[in-house]
Amino acid sequence: MARKRILSGNRPSGLLHLGNYVGALQNWVNLQDEYECFFMIADWHALTSEYIDTSEIEGNIREMLLDWLSVGLDPERSTIFIQSQVKQHAELALMLGMFTPLPWLERCPTYKEQIMEIANRDLSTYGFLGYPVLQAADIVIYRADAVPVGEDQVPHLEFTREVVRRINHIYGKLFPEPQTLLSRVPKLPGTDGRKMSKSYNNCIYLSDDAETVRKKVNKMVTDPARVRRTDKGHPEVCSVFSYHRVFNADQVPTIERQCRNAEIGCTDCKQNLASAINHLLDPFRRKRQELQVNPEYVREVIEKGNAHAREVAEETMRDVRAALHLLNNIDTLIESLGPAAKKSAGVNPKQRNRS
Ligand code: TRP
Ligand code: SF4
Repeated sequence: MARKRILSGNRPSGLLHLGNYVGALQNWVNLQDEYECFFMIADWHALTSEYIDTSEIEGNIREMLLDWLSVGLDPERSTIFIQSQVKQHAELALMLGMFTPLPWLERCPTYKEQIMEIANRDLSTYGFLGYPVLQAADIVIYRADAVPVGEDQVPHLEFTREVVRRINHIYGKLFPEPQTLLSRVPKLPGTDGRKMSKSYNNCIYLSDDAETVRKKVNKMVTDPARVRRTDKGHPEVCSVFSYHRVFNADQVPTIERQCRNAEIGCTDCKQNLASAINHLLDPFRRKRQELQVNPEYVREVIEKGNAHAREVAEETMRDVRAALHLLNNIDTLIESLGPAAKKSAGVNPKQRNRS
């Protein structure tokens, strides 16, 4: 039996951090065993909010690709590609737009939130409003059965299914309704205790070297009530402890006991955590280095991914064009021209040409 197909993607917005890894990437790596996977770098989506200054997009695509390959997205098993290199996405997004009632977009929670929150950019654009339309096209053009995403993307998947139902109702079953594969996200705060985010400058990046990781972990906030080494700690309020839960699971009961009884100092506890993180990141760093000195390999990977994505997307588009009575090519148009013209004009076209 054919494996089910999934598609997911990210906007290229810079280096990936540990939060991205435990929240999504790790899950994607594992899904490769079970599903036929498409992983897409959504550079057109990046444009929807970064249209004023696009100078970093190319560098961000490169870093995202390196991050993805170094953590184990596997081009032998998965299709890894760049959205803008498969122009069919734009064609389908245009068509889906015809089926999309404006209120569906205006009521989208991600749209409303971002319009409210992001004050330094004008997001009242056609492109930004249409973000979910493009995302729906990304998904259904591969007839994906499911889409692994975090909580924040649920409304976009909801929207995708609604558009699919509408188009299928009118033109017959063109697309399957994609399911949402919610990834269980362990809570991983930034090094300052707030949400891990590039804009807060509190990230540990997958590409950080071991020394940088040690320094960042050393600066992490711990239990504020634990001033002296002899004070008993409260691991439940300590960010370092929440990291141990994710990166040092087997030692968690021990660390918890030692912390509560003041048997371990925060400095040692942090050293221990830094080692655990570095242990995870070491193979990624090695892979990243290999890739960096091997641009021709990276080219092959992405060319192969783009080409395969294009093939699958074009196959879908043939069906879509046919269903919508749009032209797949002009052959049928030209064929219909001769006899039809003869009938309506009542003259031999050759004669007409001469006069
Ligand atoms: N909107 C997604 C995000 O911000 C990125 C994305 C674009 C995507 N197209 C997609 C995710 C298709 C899943 C499927 O993370
Ligand atoms: Fe946090 Fe560890 Fe210090 Fe306890 S010992 S407060 S868990 S850093």
